[in-house]
Amino acid sequence: MKQNVPIAGVIGNSISHSKSPKLHQHWLRRYGIRGEYVPLHVESENLESVIRSMPKMGFVGANVTIPHKVDVMQFADQISDRAILVGAANTLIFKDDGKIYADNTDGYGFMANLRQGAPDWDPKSGPAMVLGAGGACRAIIVALADAGVTEIFLTNRTRAKADALRAEFGARIQVVDWVQAGNVVEDAATLINTTSLGMTGQPELRVPLDGLRPDTLVTDIVYSPLQTPLLAQAQAAGCRTIDGLGMLLHQGVPGFERWFGKRPEVDDATRQVVLG
Ligand code: ATR
Repeated sequence: MKQNVPIAGVIGNSISHSKSPKLHQHWLRRYGIRGEYVPLHVESENLESVIRSMPKMGFVGANVTIPHKVDVMQFADQISDRAILVGAANTLIFKDDGKIYADNTDGYGFMANLRQGAPDWDPKSGPAMVLGAGGACRAIIVALADAGVTEIFLTNRTRAKADALRAEFGARIQVVDWVQAGNVVEDAATLINTTSLGMTGQPELRVPLDGLRPDTLVTDIVYSPLQTPLLAQAQAAGCRTIDGLGMLLHQGVPGFERWFGKRPEVDDATRQVVLG
């Protein structure tokens, strides 16, 4: 009997700018795997019917992106602990028994990128400072705590959102006023931008970084441009920096492995293909 070609895809709205198809198609080619990965534009009102139809069409799973990452959870039969903690899913697996499994690999992607860029990074080296308290921040806070970071300075323009995260994730989070953020930069061993500031077309990040120590590791989830003004400033201060593209690439690894049976590499060739 002819075996079906496994299909995966990315569900979002809009979806035309997603880099996931390029990434997964590159891995499929690279490992000579018979499979497909397609972008799927899905309106919110069609989310459930689309997801329930996908396994019937040969889909083995999907990535989920904005604006569906939270809503998709309600259609899952099983949810990973990390997706529950984050409150959102970016990876679905359609199991042979018909069950839908939802996972969140954003925090994994963040940490794998950090460890690849700075293999000697020590979670115990001091406080991590997190700029922003939006959707992307939750996965990063969970990943930092999981890695063993015991103190997180969290600052956000809208303080109430940072306070809510502290209430949810506990005492290791210390909320710092957005306008005071510059005052604690010097205490940070790791500095992470999770806001959209610095992205092409968005305003610049204006947190004063004069206090930045050269031994602070600085990373940004923004990857367009690759060299954000934050990373440029950090480099000028002598800091090691890690750009945000790797987080996107690494978050795709667990899904690809589950769908296609091969754990893919994230290396320079992967970066070039996705950027090209
Ligand atoms: P995501 O899911 O990508 O994190 P989000 O939930 O909209 O997106 O969060 C965007 C983050 O960027 C938030 O921390 C937001 O701050 P607010 O919570 O105060 O909105 C931050 N952000 C966006 N534009 C900003 C700006 N002009 N100044 C300061 N922070 C900004």
